[in-house]
Amino acid sequence: MPVLSNKGRNLPESPIRKLSSFAAEAESKGIYVFHLNIGQPDIASPQGSIDVVRKSKLKLLPYESSEGSLSFRKSLCAYYKRNEIDVLPKDIIVTTGASEAVAFTLNCICDAGDEIIIPEPFYANYNGFAAASSVKVEPVISLFDDQFCLPPISTIEEKVTLKTKAILICNPSNPTGYLYSQEEIELLGDLALKYNIFLIVDEVYREFIHDEVNKHYSVLQYEKLKDHAVMIDSVSKRYSLCGARVGCMVSKNKNLIATALKFAHLRLSPATLALMASEAAINSDPEYLIQVKNEYSARKKTLIEALEKIDGVRVSNPKGAFYCIVELPVEDAEEFSKWLLTDFTYQNETIMLAPAAGFYSTSGYGKKQIRIGFVLNQQKLLRSATILEKALKAYSN
Ligand SMILES: Cc1ncc(COP(=O)(O)O)c(C=O)c1O
Repeated sequence: MPVLSNKGRNLPESPIRKLSSFAAEAESKGIYVFHLNIGQPDIASPQGSIDVVRKSKLKLLPYESSEGSLSFRKSLCAYYKRNEIDVLPKDIIVTTGASEAVAFTLNCICDAGDEIIIPEPFYANYNGFAAASSVKVEPVISLFDDQFCLPPISTIEEKVTLKTKAILICNPSNPTGYLYSQEEIELLGDLALKYNIFLIVDEVYREFIHDEVNKHYSVLQYEKLKDHAVMIDSVSKRYSLCGARVGCMVSKNKNLIATALKFAHLRLSPATLALMASEAAINSDPEYLIQVKNEYSARKKTLIEALEKIDGVRVSNPKGAFYCIVELPVEDAEEFSKWLLTDFTYQNETIMLAPAAGFYSTSGYGKKQIRIGFVLNQQKLLRSATILEKALKAYSN
């Protein structure tokens, strides 16, 4: 058998999809599985984004320009302007989802063996993208008991070495829902300036803020960071367009964008048809996003209240995004999550959870925790909470 690369063999598994085969097996037996494990929105996309694809009279699908069409980038600029972010089309490279934007960014700024600092728990695929670019992740722990707030800046500074190229955060965070304040973004930005490294902020959940007091502050609003800030974005969550695979990286740093463009040239073009749908979504009535945000906020309230009533369960209170981390009264949340799919049903239904250990890169953390995505309607969330309660009782017997 030919030998595969160490990189490929050691690539971490997705904690979100790790238990998928057990879920498929349960479903094949006719068991209904509530998927709380994924971040796949269930709310309809803006109608215009679907219509533009349906009504297209295209006779062929040409390549788009590698950086994304000018009209799409102009639409993005107008959307950013509505969010108090001033950028120009030349600051944007359109990518195949935020995923490719993260990969491009890491490849542009890091060589093999370089390091990036990330507060954990973090979006698990950052680990995979780092591994694929031979970059080392230096995690800084943020704690459940502190609602996963930014660790003291001194603990982040301690991790900076000559190999550090960037600090990466997600705001608001997947998986914790933590919302970094303007002050915190500026503290991180000042650290980036001090060590002449990048501050990369993944803002794909920008609109979904459940906090009545704080508003989202983009890394691109901190003017001092002109050359050191990179924003990662996507239409996937905002407009329920995950399958469009359209995102972007945005930066005022001309050299970074010019370098990213070379990576963009390598893969020729973002998906042409998906860009049409995404542009229509971005130009849709801003009221759409207000309603979507309100729906996620209502779900969050319902879910958190239901979970808090379950004996032994502790819930973090997310200020943004559509996830929460939940601590369960079990020794090993992964074993429990597997058992839910292989050995348990309540009235022929069960739930699929994402064990949270996979969102930490330091082993031993998050063993009792799971991540729940509130991408199901309130009725289904309530039903899921009931199933969780019944399951915990059965598991402890
Ligand atoms: C924080 C974060 N960044 C990036 C992505 C990937 O987004 P995309 O579908 O645009 O590639 C996700 C998807 O779950 C995410 O949660």
